[in-house]
Amino acid sequence: MTELTERVLATMNELLKEDAEPERSDLDRVASRLGAKLHWGATRWAFVFAKHKVVYKFPRWSEVGTDYCELELANYELGKKYRIERCLLPIEKVGITDAGIPIYLQPMYTSSQDNLSYDRMKQWEHKMQKTTNRAMVRKIQHGCFSSPQRFWMERATQIYGKAFMRSFEKWSHEGKVNDLHSGNVGWLGRQPIIIDYAGYHGD
Ligand SMILES: Nc1ncnc2c1ncn2[C@@H]1O[C@H](COP(=O)(O)OP(=O)(O)O)[C@@H](O)[C@H]1O
Ligand SMILES: [Mg+2]
Repeated sequence: MTELTERVLATMNELLKEDAEPERSDLDRVASRLGAKLHWGATRWAFVFAKHKVVYKFPRWSEVGTDYCELELANYELGKKYRIERCLLPIEKVGITDAGIPIYLQPMYTSSQDNLSYDRMKQWEHKMQKTTNRAMVRKIQHGCFSSPQRFWMERATQIYGKAFMRSFEKWSHEGKVNDLHSGNVGWLGRQPIIIDYAGYHGD
């Protein structure tokens, strides 16, 4: 266990009550003690450590009964079976707090597709005009369980190749990966990566 992981677990154990769901004000206190930023979505909380380029995530039990980090981890393992884990933001379980909250670690992504700078997009769009077989990309895109955002899909196909993306298509069905909109696909440096592949199943 890294020193930072130990510090996250120790601080959560010290500042959060064992018998209650943590609330935003409690988690803000933990984040500020750790020098992290608290982020959240519909299903998960996240402590973002910009300096270390890592993120610690855990379920928002008060909102959903499912551990979406666990689902994401299962889809990551499935990605290995299809040999496409290179395009998934890695996730690992690093511990559990005294209150029973499972904690997961991920690298911090550089940008989601919807935050990609206009300049970068124009630059890559220009490159892709020469090399991309749009009809082939569209076929794989629409063959996926949920169609990944178009620009991301084109760039991913250019970087990883057709065979890889066909395998990705199969993985998306077995993992029932839905919701691959522009907020859930993105970039780790210049590498196209899925940043949220837990899917959302409405519970
Ligand atoms: N690996 C990461 N790198 C940077 N920010 C992240 C990362 N994971 C989560 N976040 C931040 O935390 C928020 C919630 O995490 P997310 O995994 O999207 O959960 P949810 O399923 O609740 O949407 C994100 O919208 C983002 O702001
Ligand atoms: Mg999200």
